[in-house]
Amino acid sequence: MRILTGIQPSGKLHWGNYFGAMKPIIDLQGKGETFVFVAQYHALTTVHDAEALRQATRDVALDFLACGLDPAKACLFRQADIPELHELAWLLSVVTPMGLLERCHSYKDKLARGIAASHGLFAYPVLMAADILAYQSDLVPVGRDQKQHVEVTRDIAAKFNQTFGTDVFRLPEPMISESVAVIPGLDGQKMSKSYNNTIGLFDDPKEVKAKIMRIATDSTPLEAPKNPDTCRVFALYRLFADEEELETMRQNYLRGGYGYGHAKKALFEIYQRKLGPFRERREHLAAHPEQVEEILREGARKARAAALETLAAARRAVGLD
Ligand code: ADP
Ligand code: TRP
Repeated sequence: MRILTGIQPSGKLHWGNYFGAMKPIIDLQGKGETFVFVAQYHALTTVHDAEALRQATRDVALDFLACGLDPAKACLFRQADIPELHELAWLLSVVTPMGLLERCHSYKDKLARGIAASHGLFAYPVLMAADILAYQSDLVPVGRDQKQHVEVTRDIAAKFNQTFGTDVFRLPEPMISESVAVIPGLDGQKMSKSYNNTIGLFDDPKEVKAKIMRIATDSTPLEAPKNPDTCRVFALYRLFADEEELETMRQNYLRGGYGYGHAKKALFEIYQRKLGPFRERREHLAAHPEQVEEILREGARKARAAALETLAAARRAVGLD
């Protein structure tokens, strides 16, 4: 089995990215051949600042390694180290119906947010299909907002196979962990850098604490019992907590005499306790950029070999060999 996911280097990664996309694949690494990449070409649809792209690319790689991605078990690489991806994307694009792309929510959402419609933004799902199909991925862990793109990938792969009478492409499945499908942000909407409601994975702890303290709660008085299931602080606490910790917190809410201020403090503490070791590892790696570069090069070498194999088969199928 092959497992693959990509994350765009288009800003600082936040708790939503970690629980929605990074942790699921880190938990799975080694259960199959695992590929994780920094989706630079996708980020270029919205990031037009070379230094920002370079910086964010380094940051995404560091974040993955800091959070426990193990290069011995998973292949970590930069998308732009696999230039052949574009040839595959073209072979897919000639069988991709316009209507399929026109229906993509992510494209429509981006236009609604005022991002200028470009060909790259429109063709984004075809490039994503090339990413997924190049490595013959079976399973693609993503947050719920990316599910449609994986379904589009299946449609494109099936269309290619059918058009050229081949079975070059394996059809991938999206993997959405329902418990973390949509991580709420500080305002209760989906946590997203586009909504300015994120808590960064490796932000300065003081900043994280200040953000947690600002989370809006209702006005139930301190003494009264509170409903954990409608509280944003609890929703974030549950991401970090094990079963016992969660049950204790639930009882604190239900019992009364436990204020939102207490819950926020507990949320900050559990974040520090669970992510503190990641922060240390990140600092160590950031001080050794040559080690990170070596990991990325080695990852690209393996990934590229897999992609070249698929591309050769696709070229054969269309008559370009
Ligand atoms: P953003 O919305 O901040 O721009 P991206 O779209 O770059 O985040 O998402 C990168 C990955 O992280 C995707 O797989 C996405 O589904 C996942 N993800 C992002 N935000 C959340 C969230 N709030 N809850 C769950 N998963 C998320
Ligand atoms: N579109 C994804 C996102 O915004 C990033 C991505 C690019 C991706 N290629 C991929 C995710 C392939 C999974 C598989 O988060």
